Amino acid sequence: MNRREFIKGVIALTTAAYISPTIVFGAENLRWWQEKSIYQIYPKSFLDTTGSGTGDLRGVTSKLDYIKSLGVGAIWLTPFYVSPMVDNGYDIADYTAIDPRFGTMEDFDELIAQARARDIKIIVDLVFNHTSDQHPWFLESKSSRNNPKADWYIWRDEKTNWRSIFGGSAWQWCEERQQYYLHTFAKAQPDLNWENPKVRQALFDAANFWLNKGAGGFRIDAIVYIKKPSQFVDGVVDSEDGLSSIHNIIAATPGILDYLREFKEKVFAGKDIFTVAEANGVKPDDLSAWVGSSGVFNTLFEFSHVNIMFPRGVEIWHRARLYKLSEWKKTLTDSQAATRDSWYPIYFENHDRPRSIDTFFPSGADKILVAKALATILFTLRGTPFIYQGEELGFGNAKFKSINDFDDISTRGNYNLARADGLSDKEALRFANKFSRDNARTPMQWNSSKNAGFTSGKPWLPVHEDFKRCNVEVEERDADSVLNFYRKLSALRNASDVLISGEYAELYPDNEELYIFTRTLGDKTITVAVNFTTHDVKLPAPLNGKKILGNYADEKNYLRATEAVIYES
Ligand code: GLC
Repeated sequence: MNRREFIKGVIALTTAAYISPTIVFGAENLRWWQEKSIYQIYPKSFLDTTGSGTGDLRGVTSKLDYIKSLGVGAIWLTPFYVSPMVDNGYDIADYTAIDPRFGTMEDFDELIAQARARDIKIIVDLVFNHTSDQHPWFLESKSSRNNPKADWYIWRDEKTNWRSIFGGSAWQWCEERQQYYLHTFAKAQPDLNWENPKVRQALFDAANFWLNKGAGGFRIDAIVYIKKPSQFVDGVVDSEDGLSSIHNIIAATPGILDYLREFKEKVFAGKDIFTVAEANGVKPDDLSAWVGSSGVFNTLFEFSHVNIMFPRGVEIWHRARLYKLSEWKKTLTDSQAATRDSWYPIYFENHDRPRSIDTFFPSGADKILVAKALATILFTLRGTPFIYQGEELGFGNAKFKSINDFDDISTRGNYNLARADGLSDKEALRFANKFSRDNARTPMQWNSSKNAGFTSGKPWLPVHEDFKRCNVEVEERDADSVLNFYRKLSALRNASDVLISGEYAELYPDNEELYIFTRTLGDKTITVAVNFTTHDVKLPAPLNGKKILGNYADEKNYLRATEAVIYES
């Protein structure tokens, strides 16, 4: 029995007694979600097995060996529940049923069983801030002011000037009730009233349903918005549309943790599951109340490094600002420091973000080197790396020619806001292309055949024009591909106690060209250095130890354009 196996044995014994979401570090106490990375799948765009043009659960099951080859221990599946698809499944009309577009409950059971056979857990998405306006709860709630679910949503006689996250007023008039209801996102996504204990219990029941089905845990959507302020008053107007971003008004309202503690007690406590909350607006300083031994979740996605270009976290795309590398590095360093006693989910991409290779490096940089450089950071910071489908192939942003080519509701909202603020169609389109969520939602590229092997039908969103160069089949054959670089990095991290558990320290934080940090455990140190420019940069001091991986084959005593290296000593 090697050390790892011994440690696992000890964990298995303690797990049997009681597992709290408390995180204890050091190689001695690792939990399964700390040891390997997690692969995120947007099922609609992953693989279509029926020719419908939309991906499905069987498509996911059929690619489990591919996913396993990336060294991952779990898959996060974005919503596959019954939905009118106004927001591609984040508008749920039945929390405990599979949308027929994605398959059947038997398909889900088969996915769980096949994944389990490969030691892969399935993490499902809980969207509990809102439902679809087609959910039976909402249909009942809106039918009168005195039905049994009349206060399951947030109804008011007067509206405020809040702007929903997808644009336009956050209030929608309802003829039947002669009242407005609140929607933080689209008008087809009415916000649930968490003040009502029956609402909370119904949601906790839905979560437990999926645990009973064998889910390994949850990604919890938009959780920062569930608690609303006690006073519903106008906010400060921040754009020509006369409205005020709801995010600043309701995110992380004091008192929210009371609900979340109840959530933990009724759903998570005592179970060997993984929980990661989406929490835009929770600052590194507040993390200890949210995650770890004193918190609620195992970890959470905060947005400071991905939204650095958006002041106060409000994604008004045409207001994106330039930022310095030192500021970006600081967001990562602050998050690493704030989760020193807990855990961090490392990510650069997901279904809500543009592709990272077109976001975090100067525009002239070689995209393959960039993909490998970002992957180097992804697998060497302290925390669980999250790989978003296609990221491991080096997918870039798509090119949309007209606003009508986008499917995403938030893209249209942001475009309209840009137009209201006086931008031309061309300018507004440029921002949409740079930041649209559809960039991450184009179909997965499996091979060079028609539609990249994604579907035999018409794909719901066009396949990226680059698919013949960038796809799984082509990259599997190329030892030097982005895909094979991911596999090397993943294997390196999975086998390295230093990379999994070692302390993080940033070197030269004021350097505006290089990101250099170390990971240290006992007498072993791993040093990671990445050049964020498109030219050669001198190292402030020689790197210690021996190079073990990099995105250039050979080695110099300086870093070349976009070079990333890992040294071990
Ligand atoms: C989260 C999801 C996003 C969705 C929104 C509303 O941010 O990640 O895709 O549109 O919540 O549910």
